Amino acid sequence: MLIAQLTDPHLQADRDAVVRGAPVYTQLEKVVTELVSTRPDWVICTGDIADDLSSEAYGHFLSLMEALPCPWACIPGNHDSRSAMRERLPVISGRGDAPVQFALMADRILLLGIDTMAAGCVEGELDWQRADWIRAAVASHKAEGVLAFTHHPPGPTGSAWMDEIRLRNPELLATALAGARLLALFCGHTHFEHQGEFLGRPWYATPATSFQFSRERPVVQSLVPAWREIRIEKGCVRTVVHRCD
Ligand SMILES: [Fe+2]
Ligand SMILES: [Fe+2]
Repeated sequence: MLIAQLTDPHLQADRDAVVRGAPVYTQLEKVVTELVSTRPDWVICTGDIADDLSSEAYGHFLSLMEALPCPWACIPGNHDSRSAMRERLPVISGRGDAPVQFALMADRILLLGIDTMAAGCVEGELDWQRADWIRAAVASHKAEGVLAFTHHPPGPTGSAWMDEIRLRNPELLATALAGARLLALFCGHTHFEHQGEFLGRPWYATPATSFQFSRERPVVQSLVPAWREIRIEKGCVRTVVHRCD
């Protein structure tokens, strides 16, 4: 099974908007075009879909994602508005500002999209309600393994500025996932590539489709859009980042 992760499109209401030097709509379009020819089984977007909280940004996102030849799902990041996402993206269930999460079975693997957004904050936070949802989702799906997706990194990234704004309470996430057969966790938010360990399993931060930051400072280092290939074969995860240059 092949899953493609894309993250941090940072789209704006204006389709021609340039954000931190990146023509963000065109950059996401390049990634989607590559995915159309790669033909993954699933595409997961891990947040910061919009940059300006506008409803139009999600309309642009939908118009690009509709070209994909496979199902897709998404979770929000700190730049997103859950209610605006719901208004424009029919793939999202629930109402208003409730957490945007998903639990999907894909070839006996549970894909778990976890909303780590904390209102008005750049850093992420999980609450008890969402932790209970994770436990229930894991318990009700008889999966051979779980792939977790979050916007915020669950552990240190080797970048001082990023570690100030990662997930505030990874211990609650660890408790919620304790009963899961976790294979790996994938996140966005960093705008650079990283790999760490969480609950004894690997976690991966994926570079953005928009602009990439330096680890040393939150300044743009590259405008090459990227996405992550995740292959599951006999319960093993193989993953690699692709850059569309
Ligand atoms: Fe972002
Ligand atoms: Fe973010």
